Amino acid sequence: MYQAPLPPEYATLTTDDARTRIIEAKRQLGTRIVILGHHYQRDEIIEHADYRGDSFKLAKDANRHPEAEYIVFCGVHFMAESADILTPDHQKVILPNLAAGCSMADMANLFQVRNCWRDLEKIVREQIIVPVTYINSAANLKAFVGEKGGTVCTSTNAPKAVEWALSQGQKVLFFPDQHLGRNTGAKMGYDPERDMVVWDPHKPLGGNSEEQISTATFILWKGHCSVHQRFTVEQVEAAKSKHPNIKILVHPECPIEVVRLSDLNGSTEFIINTVNAAEPGSAWAIGTEINLVNRLAKENPDKTVFCLDPMICPCATMYRIHPSFLLYVLDKLVAGEPINVIEVPQKTKDFAKVALDRMLTLV
Ligand code: 13P
Ligand code: SF4
Repeated sequence: MYQAPLPPEYATLTTDDARTRIIEAKRQLGTRIVILGHHYQRDEIIEHADYRGDSFKLAKDANRHPEAEYIVFCGVHFMAESADILTPDHQKVILPNLAAGCSMADMANLFQVRNCWRDLEKIVREQIIVPVTYINSAANLKAFVGEKGGTVCTSTNAPKAVEWALSQGQKVLFFPDQHLGRNTGAKMGYDPERDMVVWDPHKPLGGNSEEQISTATFILWKGHCSVHQRFTVEQVEAAKSKHPNIKILVHPECPIEVVRLSDLNGSTEFIINTVNAAEPGSAWAIGTEINLVNRLAKENPDKTVFCLDPMICPCATMYRIHPSFLLYVLDKLVAGEPINVIEVPQKTKDFAKVALDRMLTLV
């Protein structure tokens, strides 16, 4: 989506000025707005959030204030779309920077998924395939899943969602993140070599033979997160050799070799809760986005907390929610001229809501 450049007076604001003005705009708007902030947002944004959370929690938090006219979503595009789908029509969802997308979500589109589905249906005939889309996907893919009897999942409830899907059919088409799909299946006891195939949308039959597809339980879309795919076995080994009592805690978007070597894995909310509840003096190497890790280290001064990747890995698109962008959308609201409203078309909303509502029940 096209994001117009900020007016020069916003683009050149100092952090302190932006902070003071955001606080004032928020005060003027009062209960008319709720600000949601994903854990990967920078500190200068998180400090203004009424609720912070992972994708699952924020999808629920979006509904907490039906009296608010506007939900200002400091996160990425698919999160704002999900909030729009899950909230009543009188509430408008605003994304402060329209260029805040998700590179993983962009790795699957409706045309490709429909083609894949058509091919799969031809091959598996008697078997039922249930589509599961990670919440990191466009609204029209969530609608596709809703229409085909599947569900959305997040990193919080992926095992529950896949378990549910396999109670409805024999195969799961999991998109767009192959890693979350693989890690989830492996957690449930499936063998990635024997029970899973990867579907590359740029190859005929996803790069598989009909037989491979017929025998697989999981068809994993060839998508990934550019932040989490960077974590490696070598980084885990280096952290373990430097800190003998280190605990490795990673997000399930990481490659399976890394997840297998970790002590624990889970959503961003799980990562935060785990470290917050840990013994003073304990040491944690975290495999997820750097803004979260740095904040976690700051909020837990009695523990050693650092990022598994010494080269540091920010989510470039989450980072696009700069305080100046937040201030600009708030000032526009104060002026009665809402901008950057995310509106999912009604037809898409209806089916997508079926899949998102199902997600919320699978806990
Ligand atoms: P969480 O739902 O765990 O916050 O993950 C969202 C995300 O985009 C991770 O890359
Ligand atoms: Fe998307 Fe990865 Fe950024 Fe999450 S961290 S929003 S999956 S690019």
